Amino acid sequence: MAVIPVELGGRSYDVHVGRGLLERAVADGLLPSPGGGLCLVADGNALAHHGERLLHVLKEAGAAVAVYEVHGGEAAKSWSELERLTDWLLAQGVERGDRVLAMGGGVVGDLTGFACAILKRGTGFVQLPTTLLAQVDSSVGGKTAINTAAGKNLVGAFHQPSLVLADLDTLATLPERELRAGYAEVLKYGVLGDAEFFDWLCANADAVLSLVPDAIEHAVATSIAAKARIVAEDERETSGRRALLNLGHTFGHALEAATGFSEGLLHGEAVALGMVLAARYSARRDDCSLDDAERVTRAVSQAGLPTEISALGLECDGAALVDHMRHDKKMQGGTLPFVLLRTIGAAFLAKDVALEDVALFLDEQLQTH
Ligand SMILES: NC(=O)c1ccc[n+]([C@@H]2O[C@H](COP(=O)([O-])OP(=O)(O)OC[C@H]3O[C@@H](n4cnc5c(N)ncnc54)[C@H](O)[C@@H]3O)[C@@H](O)[C@H]2O)c1
Ligand SMILES: [Zn+2]
Repeated sequence: MAVIPVELGGRSYDVHVGRGLLERAVADGLLPSPGGGLCLVADGNALAHHGERLLHVLKEAGAAVAVYEVHGGEAAKSWSELERLTDWLLAQGVERGDRVLAMGGGVVGDLTGFACAILKRGTGFVQLPTTLLAQVDSSVGGKTAINTAAGKNLVGAFHQPSLVLADLDTLATLPERELRAGYAEVLKYGVLGDAEFFDWLCANADAVLSLVPDAIEHAVATSIAAKARIVAEDERETSGRRALLNLGHTFGHALEAATGFSEGLLHGEAVALGMVLAARYSARRDDCSLDDAERVTRAVSQAGLPTEISALGLECDGAALVDHMRHDKKMQGGTLPFVLLRTIGAAFLAKDVALEDVALFLDEQLQTH
């Protein structure tokens, strides 16, 4: 069991990582006083597998729990679902305390977090992440959003949760492909800022992916601690520090867009490919060694994640992929900052990248390997 503080002055909160947290949450006094009402907004699959454990202890403690189920995956991060959820929360008489629990992956966390950001100009909420991606990334740091016709996550708010409980037992029911996709974000923390963690992951990937208790706890807690540190330094992504968390994401988003944000390529799989591309592009610019780029590729491949965009069967060229990048939120005055590597464990923000050069590089990658 690990407790990781996210130090944000008056908006500080703790992230608890461990097994059996959902059962222990009330006894350990973690959840808001269960007397009175609580609203549980839950992903349908997470609720089916783990809802009973949580609802049981809450009811035993005398809480009246109203449950709202979210279905439909990424499509639920929409204006219409936001309206429906916000109206429902208002109908439950939610006040400004921390009486809303968001249980599920990044979809439920982002949607519920945004609803709470705008509800009564800011209502507290608790994140109960149940995917590896949500535990190591989306539940921590306060970014909330929905998607619109213009793109993903373009409408949202910074709104920190008041508590995060990452119960490792929930990961046991996660489809293996989702687990591996979440692992890409774990590996990201090693590649961008912690060479020792990267080496540890290379030696323990199988144990982490098989959910060996000590291994998965170390992987999740180390990832969250890395994110917490960066968020504490740059909560609103103004100094460039938080932007390092986008390692692999600029390339990755272009690949997601080219595949229509479909089940064909999960976000974490796109990030895995994006990390490999960022490392190879860094080596091509002589920012890092070829050996480092190959080590990143091996670590991604070792986790059963894709490393070659030539295998995606994309019917587009490098220029078309770069066109997707031009719509990136980070685009500023015609240039796009890229997170590149000096070495494993030392990422930096490059602001001198010419998109035409990236297009040439992507053409090479689409043809080789
Ligand atoms: N806010 C942020 O900082 C941030 C960061 C990264 C990603 N995101 C967002 O997160 C979303 C992706 O999150 P995700 O990968 O968790 O996807 P998700 O929420 O869609 O969950 C993935 C799948 O796992 C299922 N599931 C969830 N928990 C389960 C469990 N314990 N057992 C079995 N099945 C379970 C869900 O029903 C879904 O089918 C994207 O919308 C992305 O934009 C946000
Ligand atoms: Zn991501």
